[in-house]
Amino acid sequence: MRPALLFLACLLPLWSPVSLAGAATATEKNSNFPKGFVTTNGRDFQLDGKPFAFVGANSYWLPLLTSQADIDATLNSMKQTGVKVLRTWGWNAINGTELEGALQTNLTYYQVWNGTQYILNDGPQGLQRLDNVIATAEKYDIKVIVAFTNNWFGYGGSDLYIQWMLGAGQSHDVFFTNRDIISSYQAYVKTIVSRYKDSPTIFAWELMNEARCLSDTLPAGPSCVPGSNTLRTWYREQSDYVRSLDPNHLITTGGEGHFYWKNPRKYWFNHSLVSDYNYNGEAGEDFDHDLLLPNIDFGTYHLYPQSWYSELDFPGSNWTVENWGIQWIDDHINAADKAGKPVILEEFGVGGLRNKTDIYPKWVQHALDTKHARIMPWQWGQLGLTEDGGNRLIKYADAIIDGASPNDGNTFYANQTQVWDVFTRAAKIQDARSG
Ligand SMILES: *[C@@H]1O[C@H](CO)[C@@H](O)[C@H](O)[C@H]1NC(C)=O
Ligand SMILES: *[C@@H]1O[C@H](CO)[C@@H](O)[C@H](O)[C@H]1NC(C)=O
Ligand SMILES: *[C@@H]1O[C@H](CO)[C@@H](O)[C@H](O)[C@H]1NC(C)=O
Ligand SMILES: *[C@@H]1O[C@H](CO)[C@@H](O)[C@H](O)[C@H]1NC(C)=O
Ligand SMILES: *[C@@H]1O[C@H](CO)[C@@H](O)[C@H](O)[C@H]1NC(C)=O
Ligand SMILES: *[C@@H]1O[C@H](CO)[C@@H](O)[C@H](O)[C@H]1NC(C)=O
Ligand SMILES: *[C@@H]1O[C@H](CO)[C@@H](O)[C@H](O)[C@H]1NC(C)=O
Repeated sequence: MRPALLFLACLLPLWSPVSLAGAATATEKNSNFPKGFVTTNGRDFQLDGKPFAFVGANSYWLPLLTSQADIDATLNSMKQTGVKVLRTWGWNAINGTELEGALQTNLTYYQVWNGTQYILNDGPQGLQRLDNVIATAEKYDIKVIVAFTNNWFGYGGSDLYIQWMLGAGQSHDVFFTNRDIISSYQAYVKTIVSRYKDSPTIFAWELMNEARCLSDTLPAGPSCVPGSNTLRTWYREQSDYVRSLDPNHLITTGGEGHFYWKNPRKYWFNHSLVSDYNYNGEAGEDFDHDLLLPNIDFGTYHLYPQSWYSELDFPGSNWTVENWGIQWIDDHINAADKAGKPVILEEFGVGGLRNKTDIYPKWVQHALDTKHARIMPWQWGQLGLTEDGGNRLIKYADAIIDGASPNDGNTFYANQTQVWDVFTRAAKIQDARSG
């Protein structure tokens, strides 16, 4: 999900599927893994040679908290709920112009652009906060998926590399091809990977959150089109690069799982038949083939039909949010079967308590029925946070309000018991499937 959805939603229209249009030699992956590292075996994950099935949690805001009591409380409630894997952001960049404000508000930042290059912040307001989240997760026996950057603007994602290094007027996909940007990305990746290379708490490295040809602030260029393989070439080079730094941890794309099918699915919208953006390659990914890359150990996919297809609610549409989701799950399970690798339903969400109560039980049960499913709903809600008396604007529209962690409309909290029970039940089922 794009973080700070509420903030972004007022700036940006949701895209419309109708109108939008070589690699380094990598070290082989180690086959003799250190103790406590997650590995894969065909379509499944393993931990120390035993099956590892799980329900996970997404929380990008954990490293932005400044109260250790709140970080402990959050990871402790994750553990009590049966969560075994946390996914969080491993990037956080600000512009030089933002530095003074960041220092005043104790805002977390890992890199600052000084007008010429990124300067690393590995101090107490920087990477030491990520260190601390990972160390606290370890205390609660929770593994962590760390993403290196964002397709979206939020928290200093890829568009800021483009704006700061190349200036205005670029398309978003130059992020995937410009050598200076790739060097800067890789320098940061090397910093993060080297920092946690030996840690069994890292579940996997993720190349980018939700890579696409376009972003929320920049359009796709003419060289990122169906069949151009722009993202696959980048996934290949970056996954090989990470493998050359780290022979042991799993690597994944972090993508939404878009397909590039020869005969993409179509759907009825307002009485005309429309080619489905999520299947026709326009987004940039090619899930079936990306999953075959030698150093992509497993696939990820996300699921937000309600915000992806406002059309579904119009007359003349033949799909529902619920059905579209079931089909999306099936299509990824089939791709996993073909590739012989695991996949994770790594983010999913619908807005409003009523929709969550109706739809989550069906999606989650359908995924669990496949036996090879791991689910990570977007996003974890924590109640009872205490910092600044329980009210604090973190960044953008992300705020702690009355002790509740940021709510982008998809957030679910423990007081929403029917929804919460769906996940605690799923966690028990997954636990029983683990060794
Ligand atoms: C800033 O955050 C740190 C935790 O990283 C905390 O220990 C410190 O008290 C905070 N400083 C202020 C002035 O709030
Ligand atoms: C970043 O800061 C520089 C000055 O340091 C400013 O010229 C530029 O507009 C800022 N860029 C963005 C994207 O905020
Ligand atoms: C940015 O940092 C680099 C490396 O420390 C330094 O050489 C350069 O002069 C800095 N640029 C600015 C504008 O401060
Ligand atoms: C909607 O219609 C299209 C085109 O006829 C068809 O391919 C698709 O399976 C239909 N979807 C559902 C959920 O019935
Ligand atoms: C649906 O089609 C009708 C007739 O072509 C048109 O007037 C209307 O604007 C369309 N609605 C949407 C939401 O595109
Ligand atoms: C619930 O889902 C329906 C159908 O997608 C949508 O129109 C509605 O806005 C959703 N409710 C909320 C509160 O998001
Ligand atoms: C649960 O907590 C959230 C966050 O404080 C609040 O918005 C909501 O009204 C509470 N109750 C229910 C039933 O969602």
